Amino acid sequence: MQHHKSAAYISCLDDAISERAQQGNSTLNDLIASAKGASPKLVAKRVEALELKVVSSSGSPTRERQWTPELHPIGFEYYFTEDTAIRLLDRLEQEVPLERLLTLGTPTIAAAAGLRDLPTTLVDSNRLLDARFEHWPRSVERVYASLNGNAHLTGSYSAVVLDPPWYVGDMSAWLIQATSVLCAQGLIAFPLFGEFTRPTAKDERAAVLELASALGHVEVLERELNYETPLFEREAFACSGLFPEDVVNWRTALT
Ligand SMILES: C[S@@+](CC[C@H](N)C(=O)[O-])C[C@H]1O[C@@H](n2cnc3c(N)ncnc32)[C@H](O)[C@@H]1O
Repeated sequence: MQHHKSAAYISCLDDAISERAQQGNSTLNDLIASAKGASPKLVAKRVEALELKVVSSSGSPTRERQWTPELHPIGFEYYFTEDTAIRLLDRLEQEVPLERLLTLGTPTIAAAAGLRDLPTTLVDSNRLLDARFEHWPRSVERVYASLNGNAHLTGSYSAVVLDPPWYVGDMSAWLIQATSVLCAQGLIAFPLFGEFTRPTAKDERAAVLELASALGHVEVLERELNYETPLFEREAFACSGLFPEDVVNWRTALT
């Protein structure tokens, strides 16, 4: 059964990248971007297996921010690009009056909200955030707690932004907690991972969307969120022979 699922997954992935390659002049970065969340290493393997024609990636890779302490795979520390954090906040401000913002596992959004002096609460399990973001303004309250236990969220927020680990269990638990402190007419924003993130991702996305629809009205926006590629991941890619320009902002999500 699992083998069958993986074979179907690879076949759909092959279709997606082959279709993009047929448009011509595609770089490996273009094919990775068309692969809806599939790992760049897997896409590179499939490109080779299918003998797809790629042109070399042009331009220099974006400069990634250097974080101290470094981002870590434990905790899934994948940060939004600065541009994404700004756009997401702009969008929230257009949609609802941001009287009180709750950010769950989204320190870059809390930091961007702090720059706008928006009353914000950040809940995150990583206490190192106080060292990584040195100058938290007074408008940002930090609560260090695990959202997988019970963080005992209280209050009433006009908007909640959350970015849990991309698994149904975490996403469901965080979404339910977010809903419990959302005011009437409030808005919850969260990334929705691509359908090729892993073989089970399509079903998992459906489960997350089903829960979200049971909690309120849902709108999915395409290709809205870009992530930086953290140092630990860039190094892993380099070891697999991928060049930085192949994986520029490769991780994206819908919201
Ligand atoms: C995928 S990252 C999201 C970061 C976000 N994209 C940003 O740019 O701010 C997940 C975040 O959730 C936090 N986190 C992971 N597991 C957690 C848990 N069980 N409870 C609370 N926070 C958690 C991590 O420390 C990290 O900040």
